[in-house]
Amino acid sequence: MAGPEVAFGGIVLENTYTPIVATAPPPSGAIYIDAVAGVDADGVAGTDPAAPVKTPAFALFVSNSVAPAYYIRRTADAPYEPLTVSAYKKAVKGADSLTRKARAALVAKEKMAGNDAKRAAEAAAIVLPSVPDALLPAPVTIKIRAATAHRGQRVLVRGWVHRLRLQKGLAFLVLRDGTGFLQCVLAGDLANAGVTLGLTLESSVVVYGVLNAVPDGKAAPGGHELAADFYSIVGLAPGGDDAITNRVQESADPSILLDMRHLALRGETMSGIFKVRAALLRAFRRVYVDLGLLEVTPPCMVQTQVEGGSTLFDFNYYGEPAYLTQSSQLYLETCLPALGDVFCVQESFRAERSHTRRHLSEYTHVEAELAFITFDDLLLHIESLITKTVAYLLEEPEIAEIVAKLNPAFQPPKTPFRRMTYSSALEWLNEHGVPNEDGEQFKFGDDIAEAAERRMTDEINEPILLTHFPVEIKSFYMQKAPEDPRVTESVDVLMPNVGEIVGGSMRIYDLEELYAGFKREGIDPKPYYWFSDQRIYGTCPHGGYGLGTERILAWLLDRFTVRDCSLYPRFTGRCKP
Ligand code: 4AD
Repeated sequence: MAGPEVAFGGIVLENTYTPIVATAPPPSGAIYIDAVAGVDADGVAGTDPAAPVKTPAFALFVSNSVAPAYYIRRTADAPYEPLTVSAYKKAVKGADSLTRKARAALVAKEKMAGNDAKRAAEAAAIVLPSVPDALLPAPVTIKIRAATAHRGQRVLVRGWVHRLRLQKGLAFLVLRDGTGFLQCVLAGDLANAGVTLGLTLESSVVVYGVLNAVPDGKAAPGGHELAADFYSIVGLAPGGDDAITNRVQESADPSILLDMRHLALRGETMSGIFKVRAALLRAFRRVYVDLGLLEVTPPCMVQTQVEGGSTLFDFNYYGEPAYLTQSSQLYLETCLPALGDVFCVQESFRAERSHTRRHLSEYTHVEAELAFITFDDLLLHIESLITKTVAYLLEEPEIAEIVAKLNPAFQPPKTPFRRMTYSSALEWLNEHGVPNEDGEQFKFGDDIAEAAERRMTDEINEPILLTHFPVEIKSFYMQKAPEDPRVTESVDVLMPNVGEIVGGSMRIYDLEELYAGFKREGIDPKPYYWFSDQRIYGTCPHGGYGLGTERILAWLLDRFTVRDCSLYPRFTGRCKP
């Protein structure tokens, strides 16, 4: 067999190609062409029958000067047959064109490498001044959020390189300082210098320059940009394999992103969530001030339970058993006679075994307690807390912008919320064929588990005040409804996409009834003497509630899980970083 004489850079056709006689199997060194499953790509040589090339032209191109035997099959199951002379001749033109393209690419690459080397040498020769020009006006040090007020002035801004675009003679650097984003334009030597070519995302820098409104038709964050006259690098972040873009990728596995949370937080979505979270807590406090509630800070280390022993985290407190608090409710109740209506924003802890998207082991609990109220007052209060907080939140333009970006369909809820008793929820579930946890029809006394609750809430698709849960499935402290002692004056607020975001109730204020509650739940009343005293020294009807910050945020920002709404989420199996 004689093969074609092929040299890189051109196929020289010699009419000496003679296909070998079709004997099986093909000889070693044969090139395999599979018109169906083959692949014409870099690295595929066709020498392995398991990795054939696709076309005869590519086979000739890759086999280069090896003078091989070409074998082809045109359907998936056909045997490989020697390439015919006419097929070979047809392929030569295609192979020639592929070779020309490869040569052109190589020449371009060499030229580019030469240009890069030249540019790098030129860049290295540009050494930027180490101090700013003392003859220029002294800059005003600003945070980016204040930039608008300083247009036309020379300013000094510090932050992190959020985005970077390098061009010849110009570099666009979007700086992030936590309060906003600012485009800085480096021109001339500032852009061409070696340090600028080596600048990386997430490096920390100081930039001096004059703030200008961007020309019409151009866009930049805040509508202005900084024409830099000096900059210096405070901390150069790594590039290459360790570059931030390699360590944090949005498509990465959630557990890897959680390990990298400290870096992931710098992203626009994550940092947006925590800006809204801060604004949410600010808005809650503003509403509480409006309503005359006083903020208190109860302890996290306690020796009593509130919401059942099964979710208590216990620890050794100087040799005594103690727990991380599940809820500050009992402490808030004791504050009423001293301080009037009170609230707190405090971490609560739950040893939840359930791995759901709305359960955390530690969460920020907004709780309030109100004296001398009725159950109806409680419902109205909760409703207005939620609507007023959302209204305050959206009053802040930066926050409204983030909410609109993360949850474009968000509509502030309107009062009154739909009210629904536990019993009518069971009817709804049964009518809609949603089974209880045993796969049967719901009956009075059943817990409405998360899945069923979500089904109902998502379908109704508006906030629901779900009230009057049976005594047996609620906590020891809940007041019974005067009209039906089988149920409590209790309420859960349910929101579409999340489910329960608030749990509240009127509290038992009669001592004997409270003792009966302890007994029913098998709780020793002794450690609760300070709570029971409340019913002895001037008792009063009162009620309150707890709201999960991460859950209301998940609703507001349309996050799939509350984990996205906690700075460093803790849940089963994760207590780091
Ligand atoms: O319904 P819960 O358990 O009620 C109480 O703790 C009451 N003692 C509060 C009170 O009346 N002061 O919890 C109240 C809210 C829930 O509606 C939910 O939003 C949130 O706290 N929550 C959780 N959030 C995240 N992860 C968990 N494991 C949560 N458990 C409750």
